[in-house]
Amino acid sequence: MTMKRTPILAVLASAVLAGMLLAQGPLPRRARARAERVAAGASSQATTPVPLAPGPVTQGRPSQPGNPLPGITADEFELFRIGLADFVEVEQAGEGLGPVFNGLGCAQCHATPAIGGISPVSEVRAGYLDEDGAFTVLGGDTLYHLFSLPNQECQPSIPPEANVVARRIPIPLFGAGLVEAIPDEEILALSDPGDSNADGISGRAALIIDVATGQQRVGRFGWKSQHATLLAFGADAYRNEMGITNDLFRNEVGAGIDPEALRLCDPAPDPEDAREPLTGLRGIDAFEAFMKFLAPLDRGPIGERAVRGETVFQSIGCASCHVPVLTTGRNSNPVFDRRGVALYSDLLLHDVGTGDGIEQSSAAPNEIRTPALWGLRFRRPLLHDGSAANPEQAVLRHGNEAAGAVERYRELATDEKAALQAFLDSL
Ligand code: HEC
Ligand code: HEC
Repeated sequence: MTMKRTPILAVLASAVLAGMLLAQGPLPRRARARAERVAAGASSQATTPVPLAPGPVTQGRPSQPGNPLPGITADEFELFRIGLADFVEVEQAGEGLGPVFNGLGCAQCHATPAIGGISPVSEVRAGYLDEDGAFTVLGGDTLYHLFSLPNQECQPSIPPEANVVARRIPIPLFGAGLVEAIPDEEILALSDPGDSNADGISGRAALIIDVATGQQRVGRFGWKSQHATLLAFGADAYRNEMGITNDLFRNEVGAGIDPEALRLCDPAPDPEDAREPLTGLRGIDAFEAFMKFLAPLDRGPIGERAVRGETVFQSIGCASCHVPVLTTGRNSNPVFDRRGVALYSDLLLHDVGTGDGIEQSSAAPNEIRTPALWGLRFRRPLLHDGSAANPEQAVLRHGNEAAGAVERYRELATDEKAALQAFLDSL
């Protein structure tokens, strides 16, 4: 069976870790397949909750990767907890998984150094790029799923005419709620599509239509800044990664597979994501809550060298794109109200010469969103396709808009390079 090829053990190990955060009380299992929805009662979820002492859950707790944002209310913590349970859940065929999929659950790909992080997994996008740089989607979509359900009638294959086959690694979700709370104007103010200040850098805001609200927004999530909200990204991931259709993405997709054939491979009525009777939440609401309240990772120890390294980072122009701090807007929730978000990204699309050749959403084939550098010390490999083993390799791969910065990097004295490295290692 296909599923044997996926690291279920890793997911289970992660689920056990997550159990430390799943405080007391039974966790309702959300039924997805309609037949199951009827039968669903208060049956408890596979992840056994590890009882923690009751009490204020977000205060006075040492900050650990995977913790919720400090200062959230007890109700918000409850949402976070329910969201975490859904995030670590392993999906089964009868619950809507497939017919084509990349993983069995969110935590399979978002698990290191804690639930919400990354995993050694990559997925595949493909298409056709002509000599003039015009991109053509082949077979209806660019995402070619890795797996299909037995009897594998719907196993995807990349068409021979594809001349771009690109892989992408996961992006960690720590602090995602703060990133979501950054106003569009803050990102737009940093954009300079025509390079009017002639610094060689022409960051572009990804203007997208948010499927959750139907409004034009500035995308900020994904390697191509393809989504602006966590609800939309989570819903897209639920359908794209697990094949679970939902209120925002109602139809099964599978690149290169005829929609009628897909229907025969997965007869479960769409949308497959159902409201959990006890909480009234859909799976996509639960994912949103978990990601929204997931705290950013703390900085590592910051020595004198790292402090010097940050000045080097600024002076050679890294901070033109990896903008140290953006600020959230006014927000009725104090946790998100006008907070500094030290993510080291402008959230804009750039051409730094590493583009994957895939046109997606508002992003051109040669454009990639500046990745946030917070939590960099927990992340390897680097770059969208995992082609860099460490920060230095990643830096040396930058070109085009970042050519000036890399030139200055190459000219640094050995101790300045070491300081920059120490700074990056402290993130
Ligand atoms: C098979 C692996 C896999 C699974 C399963 C998976 N993801 Fe991801 N996730 C990725 C990859 C790869 C990316 C980068 C995708 C891209 O931009 O093309 C990503 C990116 C994201 C991002 C963007 C984060 C940012 O800051 O830009 C969010 C949000 C996200 N995933 C949420 C989820 C949720 C919620 C689930 C479960 C419904 C999920 N993912 C399941 C691999 C996975
Ligand atoms: C013109 C904008 C720009 C400049 C200037 C720039 N970067 Fe980047 N950086 C990017 C983009 C875009 C990527 C993602 C490229 C990819 O994944 O293909 C990236 C990726 C990285 C990564 C890998 C992060 C990850 O999560 O994979 C590191 C580390 C990094 N940059 C450090 C630096 C340093 C250090 C400098 C200064 C020498 C610098 N960057 C200058 C835009 C820039």
